[in-house]
Amino acid sequence: MKITILGAGPGGYVAAIRAAQLGAEVTVIEESEVGGACLNRGCIPTKTLIASAEVLHKVKNSQNYGLELNGSVSPNIYKIVERKNKVVDIQVKGIRGLFKSWGVKLIEGRGTIEGAGKIRVAMKDGSNEDIESGKIIIATGSKPAGIPGFTFDGTRILSSDHAINPSTIPQSLIIIGAGVIGCEFAFIYKEFGADVTMVEMLPHAVSGEDDEISLLLERELKKNKITLLANTGVERAVVSGEGTSVQLTDGRTLEAEKVLVSVGRSVNSTDLGLENAGVKTGRKGEIIVDSHMRTNVEGIYAVGDVTGGIMLAHLASKEGTVAAENAMGGNAEVNYDVIPSAIFTSPEIGSVGLRERQVVEKGLKYKVGRSQFRALGKAHAMGEIAGMFKIISDEVTDKILGAHIIGPHASDLVHEIAVAMEKGLTVKDIARTIHAHPTLSEGIMEAAEDVHGSAIHCPKKEGKKMAPETAGPV
Ligand code: NAI
Repeated sequence: MKITILGAGPGGYVAAIRAAQLGAEVTVIEESEVGGACLNRGCIPTKTLIASAEVLHKVKNSQNYGLELNGSVSPNIYKIVERKNKVVDIQVKGIRGLFKSWGVKLIEGRGTIEGAGKIRVAMKDGSNEDIESGKIIIATGSKPAGIPGFTFDGTRILSSDHAINPSTIPQSLIIIGAGVIGCEFAFIYKEFGADVTMVEMLPHAVSGEDDEISLLLERELKKNKITLLANTGVERAVVSGEGTSVQLTDGRTLEAEKVLVSVGRSVNSTDLGLENAGVKTGRKGEIIVDSHMRTNVEGIYAVGDVTGGIMLAHLASKEGTVAAENAMGGNAEVNYDVIPSAIFTSPEIGSVGLRERQVVEKGLKYKVGRSQFRALGKAHAMGEIAGMFKIISDEVTDKILGAHIIGPHASDLVHEIAVAMEKGLTVKDIARTIHAHPTLSEGIMEAAEDVHGSAIHCPKKEGKKMAPETAGPV
């Protein structure tokens, strides 16, 4: 079976390798670099910048750990970006190596669908190459969305693509949109020395998260002297010699050296020749697919951001494996109920499943258990005690409906709950499992115990009675 994949991001490259593992003859067409936005302009670059910011933060606060700093520490943005580029480069080479090892053919150019099973590639040297393919997987991703009145120029008005490659740290930065990208960059730029103001039209930062998580993050933004102007929209930006002024909808004007616009991402579905094959798209240009990643056209699949759903690299990868398996005759499906997510703010956020307000909207009977990082010896030893664990369970079945963690290593911790949810385990199953001491994972056990009022390191709560069977062995 010949399978051709448009795009080598986390959706496309993973689909390519899975298809090759299953014996397909695979060609990947990529117009930029393998790894896509995630590796070259998103997840990995930001995590590398965050690693530098975290070391800087620790060194600046070294006296809290009994260490004396005989000298000063300051960010060298040239070297920080150089390190980021090296990390990206290693991963790019890794993917290219995997393609070689699995016999995946990489064509560097821009592919357009000419009809069912037919793709034309505009090569970088100006020539064209025509490809016939039994199946096609579209994995062309997304790009930063703009807003009227703010034209990206890469100098004063930045998208996240620009913000990962700073040549200097601005004295002041206005971030439009306090979502995932906005909040991650707020902590990075603040740590590197910029004065950061965020403008968010909704009432809260990271408003897709559970409300308690948003509030706790807002407290940390405040502690870090990052200003959040919530319930505030923007009209336009005016760039002058010295900086940029941003006119807000409430009539105020903010001034800063630079502006970062992070108001979401738009799908890359134009000029792909979708109309030539009759592939259906939605209102925002997203390719419409089912949970098997099939489009309306037989033999054409789509995965990842271009399908307009939840824009997460790991979901794109899962969809990529599902599309590849189905293209090879399988019957795989994505479980959209259990998608862990990780936000690399300071502290981190890890969540999976329903937010409490969604549980309320669904009219489910539920219980909530909470525990605090400051109750954990390990968190104190690390000097990172801000944060909480929250588990929401179905009152009738005791199954986990959602879990929300904000605190150090939340992005890793959340996966214990994801496995439990995937396997339909109960809160009691988690509570009864011995968790090693001293670890941060103990907080998950404690939150699970707290659902039934049996947490050891939580003060007594009036009116919350422990069910005897939750404390005893199975
Ligand atoms: P987002 O949807 O998370 O946040 C955009 C924010 O901008 C929202 O809070 C929205 O209310 C606000 N906004 C929109 N228009 C506005 C305006 N005119 N004025 C003021 N505020 C406005 O989108 P974001 O942060 O750009 O991220 C894009 C995608 O990338 C998301 O789907 C996200 O999940 C994904 N992503 C995930 C990461 C992770 O998992 N760690 C990291 C980075 C991105």
